[in-house]
Amino acid sequence: MARSIGSVAVIGAGAMGRGIAQVGIQGGMQVWLFDAAPGAAAKAAEAIAAQLDSLVAKGRLPADEAAAAKAQLRVADALEQIKEVDLVVEAIIENLEVKQQLFTQLETIVRPDCLLASNTSSLRIAAIARSCQYRERVGGLHFFNPVPLMKLVEVIRAPATSDETVAALVKVGERMGRSPVVVQDSPGFLVNLGGRCFTQEGLRIVSEGVAAPSQVDAVMRDCWGFRMGPFELMDLTGIDVNFPVSQIISAGYFHDRRLATAPLHQAMAESGQLGRKTKRGFYAYDDAGRMLAPSPDAASESAPIEKVALAEDDDALAELLRELGFSVSNFDDGQSPILCALLGEDVSGYAARRGFDHRRLFALDLTGRLDKRLTLMQAPGAVNALRDGLVAQFNKAGRKVTAIRDSAGFIGQRVAAMVANLGCEMAQIRVAGPADIDKAMTLGLNYPLGPLALADHLGPQTVLNILTQLQAITGDDRYRPSLWLRRRALLGLSALTED
Ligand code: NAI
Repeated sequence: MARSIGSVAVIGAGAMGRGIAQVGIQGGMQVWLFDAAPGAAAKAAEAIAAQLDSLVAKGRLPADEAAAAKAQLRVADALEQIKEVDLVVEAIIENLEVKQQLFTQLETIVRPDCLLASNTSSLRIAAIARSCQYRERVGGLHFFNPVPLMKLVEVIRAPATSDETVAALVKVGERMGRSPVVVQDSPGFLVNLGGRCFTQEGLRIVSEGVAAPSQVDAVMRDCWGFRMGPFELMDLTGIDVNFPVSQIISAGYFHDRRLATAPLHQAMAESGQLGRKTKRGFYAYDDAGRMLAPSPDAASESAPIEKVALAEDDDALAELLRELGFSVSNFDDGQSPILCALLGEDVSGYAARRGFDHRRLFALDLTGRLDKRLTLMQAPGAVNALRDGLVAQFNKAGRKVTAIRDSAGFIGQRVAAMVANLGCEMAQIRVAGPADIDKAMTLGLNYPLGPLALADHLGPQTVLNILTQLQAITGDDRYRPSLWLRRRALLGLSALTED
């Protein structure tokens, strides 16, 4: 049975330490707060009390529970005062030497069986524990900001961390009302690594001129159920935050192409257009903080074109087009638009391979949800008047259209396949177990599905096909399929199948 933790010291009373202390006392533990800056811990304790009072005022916390929690909070003026605690959670400045010094000092103060945890987001736990005498008691407790609202906590297991320490940290996380997931001591841990592809594939799509940020965001929201698209998300977290995280993780994985971001990301970071906080990022914002986004919807003044030919027999495409009021034939009359549904291929490649007139050939993405928005893709040299006629007919039938330039995998297939592939790779390299990867990504990033469930939703074989096509067409190992995905696709297994 895991050891029970009754008392905790939180070192560093900034944004994170404050939140950790709050969920600690709400979990019934005695919590000491210490900060190197004089008065900072006392100020944080006042802020926590005020936070609990406001929860009571809003009816979200019974008054007696708030009072009991507040009675558990202590402010330490010197580190020596915490010598009897069962667990120390460090949440100080993100600097390896300073953290190493603190851990070495803590070992001279606390009991030999006191557990030591760091809330670092970018340093290795093993590096922080490097000079510690008892490394088996050192692990990570990686909370997310704002702590009281974010349910996930990553419990980081370094090579020397004992099973008992991991079990006790999981238990303390639960007691703090969080959902713990055990994660390997690797760059970006789980969620910060797993979140890379959603934004970075979006950046590549925009960099290639395929679509604008507002178009990528609209597709990922309307067709794939994400609460926010990649560009809204980067503007919200701040490009000065997400660009360096991308760099650290990319370097941590020795520049695996799958984790590379785009030069556009760096250009934005260097320009100082950092997102919402500077009122200008990928989008502009007015003084009230409202986003001033260009419309992602293709507009058309043309008369609707109803008559289309199918490039090849495709029941799903034919059914969709008929439902939207098109007259569909299998005969190319030499004038009407020709429509196809592509998986991982671009329109140019398909036109050349099958001998179609690329000027009249248009592709639809049939993956993702189609009830609000459709993605329509064209080759270079396509007749825009034909596209406008198609858009007019889609609009008449109540569908919005995102019209994009040629891209293997459209927008949605590219981003979804990359997210799913990275989830598979995380399972392959043992960042965490497959079910925990999905749990962490849905809790930590609000994804509608975990990356492995997303792979299953599309079908592992379909994801593999999309990636293989992308890799072949672009010649870029960025689209290299994870062996985890490949094996499960070949064997017809769920992506969640354990080894
Ligand atoms: P912060 O800057 O708000 O607070 C840090 C606090 O630590 C300050 O009050 C500072 O006076 C104190 N401090 C610095 N050196 C100290 C020392 N040697 N001994 C005692 N106190 C010391 O920082 P924040 O955002 O709370 O981050 C703390 C840690 O949590 C960092 O390791 C960070 O990477 C990690 N983290 C931050 C997240 C975030 O979104 N802010 C999310 C997850 C982890």
